[in-house]
Amino acid sequence: MEKIRVGIIGSGFIAEHHVYSYSLLPNVEIVGIASLKTEEAKGLMKKYNIPGEPYKNYEDLLKLDCEVISACVPNFLHEKTCVDALNAGKHVLVEKPLARNVEEGLRMIDTEKASNRKIFYCENNMYAPSFSKVKEIIEEGAVGKIYMGRGKEQHSGPHSEWFYKKEAGGGALLDLGIHDIACLTWYLDCDVVNVFCQTRTILPDRGEFGRCEVEDNAVGILYYENEAQVVIEESWTAPGGYDMRFELFGTDGQIKVAPTFSNLISVYSEKGYGYAVEKAGTTKGWTFPVPEEAWSFGYPQEIKHFMDCILTNKKPLTDGMYGLKILNIVETMYKSALSGKLEEVKSL
Ligand SMILES: NC(=O)c1ccc[n+]([C@@H]2O[C@H](COP(=O)([O-])OP(=O)(O)OC[C@H]3O[C@@H](n4cnc5c(N)ncnc54)[C@H](O)[C@@H]3O)[C@@H](O)[C@H]2O)c1
Repeated sequence: MEKIRVGIIGSGFIAEHHVYSYSLLPNVEIVGIASLKTEEAKGLMKKYNIPGEPYKNYEDLLKLDCEVISACVPNFLHEKTCVDALNAGKHVLVEKPLARNVEEGLRMIDTEKASNRKIFYCENNMYAPSFSKVKEIIEEGAVGKIYMGRGKEQHSGPHSEWFYKKEAGGGALLDLGIHDIACLTWYLDCDVVNVFCQTRTILPDRGEFGRCEVEDNAVGILYYENEAQVVIEESWTAPGGYDMRFELFGTDGQIKVAPTFSNLISVYSEKGYGYAVEKAGTTKGWTFPVPEEAWSFGYPQEIKHFMDCILTNKKPLTDGMYGLKILNIVETMYKSALSGKLEEVKSL
């Protein structure tokens, strides 16, 4: 079997999800990893039996004979790694957010068009079984016309310092809101016309990570073309573990979906146990562990879909343009947070 050869840039949190997901596919071979964190990269390579040594400079990885690059790097490197990978003749999987702002995103799309290669936009939630099921039910017409909704994603805050710095391009809205808006816009299946948003930083001192220079909380309203109004609530200051959920209200019904904090499994433990869910600080007391976490959040399904698209030359569910469209909504929400007014989402 001819294998798709893949290189990974980065060896942190999301790189492991990519490596794990590729490792499930018999038609994929990981040819190398580039990371500034050599020991972290070595650990990942050892865990997944990837031969060789990590590269310090990702440019060296791009010289290898491979078709695909997974760019699993901080937001401020999305444009550069993506453009360099496309110019080196590789397809590139770019993590959310597509970039820090629309200007960077547009340059990435321009490079994609000129390169004859593709950007695959990593929005894992649109491949998650629970969220995909919701899409199916909406498409069947089960809840009629959706006129109102709510999306929220919350946890206690990211695991690396760079997220908290201005250089990241934004805080909880860009990091978490981007997920919610991607799913909600997919569900509503129409454009966002106007937005309103307010942001706050309520925990400026993040201990070992220093000062939080960006917003750690955001509340917003999205007004869709079909007149639906949808609220989003994003937080980096909510302890207790990763929480993501949607509520959608239609003329013929409603849907609530929450792959976390659901009662599929409820555990009460006085001693605690190994692991419940991402960013849960403890497993003592009542906990709600998520089975097959990577699968529940859609990571392996997303990577498989992208590899299938490469083999069959199909357009992915989430391409670079989709990433840019969602980023444009988020950028307009930042504009609203500054102006204090409702802002129009301009077409790209
Ligand atoms: N889809 C999701 O749910 C999800 C979850 C977490 C993170 N992400 C996204 O993934 C990206 C990475 O986040 P993370 O959580 O993995 O961050 P992280 O801090 O855990 O890891 C960052 C990695 O980038 C590497 N890196 C930094 N600069 C580099 C360079 N010049 N060359 C090579 N490697 C370099 C570091 O060595 C490190 O391994 C971000 O854009 C983030 O928004 C997505």
